[in-house]
Amino acid sequence: MEFVEETKPKTDKILGKILLSVSSFPSMPKAGVKLMTLLEEKDVSLDKIEKILNRDPGLTVNVLKLANSSYFGIPSKIGSAKHAIALLGTRRFSQIVLTACMNKSMDQAVEGYELPSGDLWHHSIVTSKTAEALAKFIKLDDAVDVFTPALLHDMGKVVLGSFISEEIQAIEEVVRGGLPMVLAENMILGTDHAEIGSQILANWFFPADIVNAVRLHHNPERVKNSNLQTEIVHLSDILSHSIKDNDPRGAQFQAPSPIVLKRLGMSLEQYELIRDKVALWMNESSSSLQFE
Ligand SMILES: [Fe+2]
Ligand SMILES: [Fe+2]
Repeated sequence: MEFVEETKPKTDKILGKILLSVSSFPSMPKAGVKLMTLLEEKDVSLDKIEKILNRDPGLTVNVLKLANSSYFGIPSKIGSAKHAIALLGTRRFSQIVLTACMNKSMDQAVEGYELPSGDLWHHSIVTSKTAEALAKFIKLDDAVDVFTPALLHDMGKVVLGSFISEEIQAIEEVVRGGLPMVLAENMILGTDHAEIGSQILANWFFPADIVNAVRLHHNPERVKNSNLQTEIVHLSDILSHSIKDNDPRGAQFQAPSPIVLKRLGMSLEQYELIRDKVALWMNESSSSLQFE
């Protein structure tokens, strides 16, 4: 109790600073926001999309690079946004635009979590790929977007990293006591990366179900009226951490929550098989990831 009383004012002060950095966190590039908004319209104007991209050659190069990448699985060469939309559909194209916009901020090293440059981005891509394969495996409704929350689930770490660094001794003490990192964040900073990531996405007007999937990716049992999005992000995150934990302060090995497995209609044996397949896929990153 003494510990709580002593640390409370300090935690409040840190939390205030963290919330300030959330509100000053750079927004999505304007062209990206415009594109994603246009792509949500029923009759998407391809000319408008090309016009926006023509004004942002850097974004166009990245979007086309991604559209031609093995991740998005297009066998032929895509030379234009129109061609990409015709082949991939508007939702996939919108996800590619988001990926192109987020790459810069999530590809950097993240202090505090000891993530060298590229690691958070790699983890995010593996998690979204795994989430999509899981969604297919459980025959989840195609309308449910698991790609976006899986890609962005840990983006709160980009904001929280420097605060973790400042309080690292206290945080490590909690972690050494056997508590997961996300709880240590809460105890010492008064918030955690899942909450902070969800606040950034809410500020960017992302749909509520995506915001909630990011907020609860470490606490999926708290989800009400689930469309299984959060459960899939949670399990994909555990799968990618448990195979190659390149995130020493991120998520110590966590066993899958029995509640989540039950909601997804998955047995522990199936989970183990899936885990082996993700491990194999990560070693041969050129192959596609499918669970049968
Ligand atoms: Fe996380
Ligand atoms: Fe994660």
